[in-house]
Amino acid sequence: MAEQAFTPRVFSGIQPSGGLTLGNYLGALKRFVEMQEAGTYETVFCLVDLHAITVWQDPDKLTHATRELAAFFLACGIDPERSILFNQSQVPGHAQLAWLFNCVARMGWMGRMTQWKDKAGKNSENASLGLFAYPALMAADILLYHATHVPVGEDQKQHLELTRDIAAKFNHDYGVEFFPITEPVIEGPATRVMSLRDGTRKMSKSDPSDMSRINMSDDADTIAQKFRKARTDPEPLPETYADLKDRPEARNLIDIYAGLADTTADAVMAEHAGAGWGTFKPKLAELAVEKLSPISAEMARIMADEAEIDRVLARGADRACAIADPILTRTMDVMGLVRGS
Ligand code: TYM
Repeated sequence: MAEQAFTPRVFSGIQPSGGLTLGNYLGALKRFVEMQEAGTYETVFCLVDLHAITVWQDPDKLTHATRELAAFFLACGIDPERSILFNQSQVPGHAQLAWLFNCVARMGWMGRMTQWKDKAGKNSENASLGLFAYPALMAADILLYHATHVPVGEDQKQHLELTRDIAAKFNHDYGVEFFPITEPVIEGPATRVMSLRDGTRKMSKSDPSDMSRINMSDDADTIAQKFRKARTDPEPLPETYADLKDRPEARNLIDIYAGLADTTADAVMAEHAGAGWGTFKPKLAELAVEKLSPISAEMARIMADEAEIDRVLARGADRACAIADPILTRTMDVMGLVRGS
């Protein structure tokens, strides 16, 4: 098959497993909106419910979390006319291509994934098969649309490398240039938002301490309190960002400020050099409330009409299928799977 030019297309996904954090906003959603606005790409965004069920999900909570995640996308500025927004289980091609990729990917590749090792831990005998195969489904998500660019936070880097490996192995094994070698887009000051209690750990919804994270559902007082109590060191802010090399908690707060203010960490340092935490933290809290409160208010407004959310997702799934179906069919043709004509 001749080499083909791929349409510049962005794909990314978020799990509807409840509990959206500032990490999801700065590391993902804010950048999804920027890529939509840039107008350079077709943008496809997916609520990856099939990934969420690789660990047990209460069905009612999953339904709620899926709609809430859709509301988050819409409240942040994803326009369902200009972008495609849908949930993964409504487009059968994701599961179908994932199976084909299960037969391309190697056990050893999966076993080396740090997320698998972290999540399955010592109890891997008891983990679901889906959790092990998770990265092949992720590769299917991306390659089902021939996506060329995938914006994600730093924690997804290894999965995207595996997506490239799967695409390359498929192309090599079948002697085609069919799947693009996708570019990860891990850019900006806040691609790894860290815990407010420990600057060496990622901010995560699964951290037992609620004080470690800003939830998208936190009210203004809670946000201010969490930043006030955020762990720091006693030193004031130095002249440059490079001077924060050994101060992970301080660096994290600067990164968060830069992400929220749409600027660089160096610019934040230039503005606040010499300031103590008693001055900087209230400014950070004020900025966070200014940026996040309108989003949570808009989410609440959107959540009041669940039927409308479901309509948006159904329409997104139709549009997603229109891109995905021919790519899946061509994949099956390449592999020699017979189809009636
Ligand atoms: P998930 O649902 O854990 O996270 C969604 C997105 O949020 C980013 N993120 C962060 N970014 C910066 N700092 C943090 N503390 C932080 N926490 C989360 C994640 O990097 C991610 O971009 N496997 C993926 C979902 C997925 C996907 C895909 C992504 C499934 N298929 C295809 C891209 C393309 C996941 O579990 O993300």
